[in-house]
Amino acid sequence: MKIAGVKGMNDVLPAEVARWQEMERVAREVFALYGYREVRTPVVEPAQLFARGVGEATDIVNKEMYVFEDKGEELLALRPEGTAGTVRAFIEHGAYVEGPQKWFYLGPMFRRERPQKGRYRQFHQIGCEAFGIAEPFLDAEQIALLADYFARLGVVATLKLNSVGDASCRPAYLAKLKAYLVGRKAELCPDCNERIERNPLRVLDCKVEACQPVLNAAPKLLEELCDGCRAHLDQVKAGLDALGVAYRVDGRLVRGLDYYVRTAYEFTSDALGSQSAVAGGGRYDRLVETLGGPPTPGIGFALGEERLAMILEKAGRAPPATGPAVFFVSADAEGAMEALRRAAELRKAGVACDLDPRGGKMKAQFKQAERVGARWALVLGGEEVRSGQGKLKDVKTREEKAVALGELVELLRRSASSGPASTFRAPGPWVAIYSARTSAPVDTPRRREGKS
Ligand code: HAM
Repeated sequence: MKIAGVKGMNDVLPAEVARWQEMERVAREVFALYGYREVRTPVVEPAQLFARGVGEATDIVNKEMYVFEDKGEELLALRPEGTAGTVRAFIEHGAYVEGPQKWFYLGPMFRRERPQKGRYRQFHQIGCEAFGIAEPFLDAEQIALLADYFARLGVVATLKLNSVGDASCRPAYLAKLKAYLVGRKAELCPDCNERIERNPLRVLDCKVEACQPVLNAAPKLLEELCDGCRAHLDQVKAGLDALGVAYRVDGRLVRGLDYYVRTAYEFTSDALGSQSAVAGGGRYDRLVETLGGPPTPGIGFALGEERLAMILEKAGRAPPATGPAVFFVSADAEGAMEALRRAAELRKAGVACDLDPRGGKMKAQFKQAERVGARWALVLGGEEVRSGQGKLKDVKTREEKAVALGELVELLRRSASSGPASTFRAPGPWVAIYSARTSAPVDTPRRREGKS
């Protein structure tokens, strides 16, 4: 009996994996340019971490988290997102003593959502988290990083920016919003009604057509921001303007996780349909403290790899070719032996090549060369072995060029290295840029607490 995979959890087959590797390679390169270093944390964490970190009232924790008891001991969860685990690791290893840190991660996340296009139960995120800096220029720089990443992949995405306030302005706004929503209950959908008590801000996220007039007329948090949050948002905007990153302020942008303060942002794409967010993030200046660490501001984002792959596919972008440089086609037993030897020689020199150990009809071997995406096919038989000469046949155009077998390694090594070279390979920042503080002073949490 065949066993099917779990609903909402997908296989990514080799042809598609090439695209994923490309998305991840470019991410690593861009993140290195901005000074982010990779962290790897477990897929399983204490369930309590997410209840406390992401918020008990969120759908992610309340409805969608995979929770299980570990043999009657502890309640564990498959991580629904990467921020809480990264913060846990940051605190557990005392990383804060080293000052500000920029980390990134990639890997699978799990949410028991209703699967649909672009929404899965296992999905993959690439995320960045920056700790220890409350200044708004970090927000602008991080958003610019993401814009830079999309630009390098040739992806067009729209940036929506908002401020969700902080502890000094949000409570009063929430009370006002709740009172307004309660008064208009009858005009709102069942989902909205359920959220009014549990998570009123999320009501603003409802996409149901009939709810829109009520939500459009709802009190606006942007109009109720405290001076500190307003100044912060203005500085983020100024930073983005300076960096040439286009954005749209969207007062109704709210996020599905409770840890955000001030900056919240999302990149959306028309190519995605109803699940239009390809990336989202924001500030979480209280999260490290909430999870038991010292007061440490933070900001981060995560992008969905499945959704990014969908955008690239929709734009007609083929995954990068991964085929070998050459495929040996053996004409006889002598050629088969020579092919085996030459393949070993090429691989030792770092040139990818392949052959079909079954030998067989040459036409079938040429087909095989085509199927694996080889750049060249090279026929080897007794004649080539004796003369030391062969013909490299371009698998696509069928053009041929003569080659001395003794020069094969050199020739193929040269042509492989003349391909599109990676333009940005930075192990760490080359230059640290120091700036005199020229911007208007901004009200940061540290300053407000009188610690600066
Ligand atoms: P999020 O908005 O829940 O934020 O997820 C980020 C991205 O992950 C989404 O924009 C989407 O592309 C992708 N994603 C989320 N759920 C699914 C799903 N069920 N199927 C496919 N893709 C999905 C976070 O997770 C925060 N931890 C981001 C963050 C990092 N904030 C601060 N630091």
